[in-house]
Amino acid sequence: MKVGYIQTSPIFGETAQNFKQVENLLGNTKADLIVLPELFATGYTFVSKEEAESMAENTKGETTNFLMRLAEKTDAVVVGGFIEKEGNHIFNSSMIVSKGEVLGTYRKLHLYYKEKLWFSPGNKPLKIYEVKNTKVGIMICFDWFFPETFRTLALLGAEIIAHPANLVLPYCQKAMETRCLINRVFAVTSNRIGNEVRGEDNFTFTGGSQITSYNGEVLSSAPKDKQHIDFVEIDVKHARDKNLNYYNNLFEERRVEFYYDSDKS
Ligand code: ACM
Repeated sequence: MKVGYIQTSPIFGETAQNFKQVENLLGNTKADLIVLPELFATGYTFVSKEEAESMAENTKGETTNFLMRLAEKTDAVVVGGFIEKEGNHIFNSSMIVSKGEVLGTYRKLHLYYKEKLWFSPGNKPLKIYEVKNTKVGIMICFDWFFPETFRTLALLGAEIIAHPANLVLPYCQKAMETRCLINRVFAVTSNRIGNEVRGEDNFTFTGGSQITSYNGEVLSSAPKDKQHIDFVEIDVKHARDKNLNYYNNLFEERRVEFYYDSDKS
């Protein structure tokens, strides 16, 4: 399975240019799974709820059309971030699309910093999508800080975790090595680069998009400050085998009856 990321440098509010950037970087690439950054079409640093609302869409908007075109052109399943509107709520979401079809959206469960002022926290359960004989789970950026997110997806059967991101802290990439190792799951973290100074905030996004293997090995690592695209071939069957060795199966020997909070998990 050929999986990869596109590390872009979105320009705030310039959706058409941001789409073009993705297209230019992709060229004629064909793949099975392509992951784009969180909020790749709009930018990240909003100054008001109204501003974020003004860029929100449902799954029939221009970002959906763009991602569908991308899926058509690349033959890939595509995952990318957008602002999702439903009723009076907007969510920091990611959409998963395949040729001609929106398979679903994931609404970020753990909102970072001022995202809490604009977005409603995700209100849908974590879910696995069966695509191209592979089970794909989605989480967004800061969700990585909560190991339960990755673990839940892994326990639900995820073999690859698509991880659109707008990381501003430097810790995620190292952590993903451990997340992948202890769950024996692959992950594609698609981060952005660039700087956004808006209102009181000044964010430099940390790049370093990464493809991490089921055994914790880093298969691809993007530069911190350049647009970048990379794809690797992975064998997802490794993620189906949770045996670390003859004696240790990482899922079967969980001692849930002794874990604090286990009654709620
Ligand atoms: C983040 O969750 N975008 C930092």
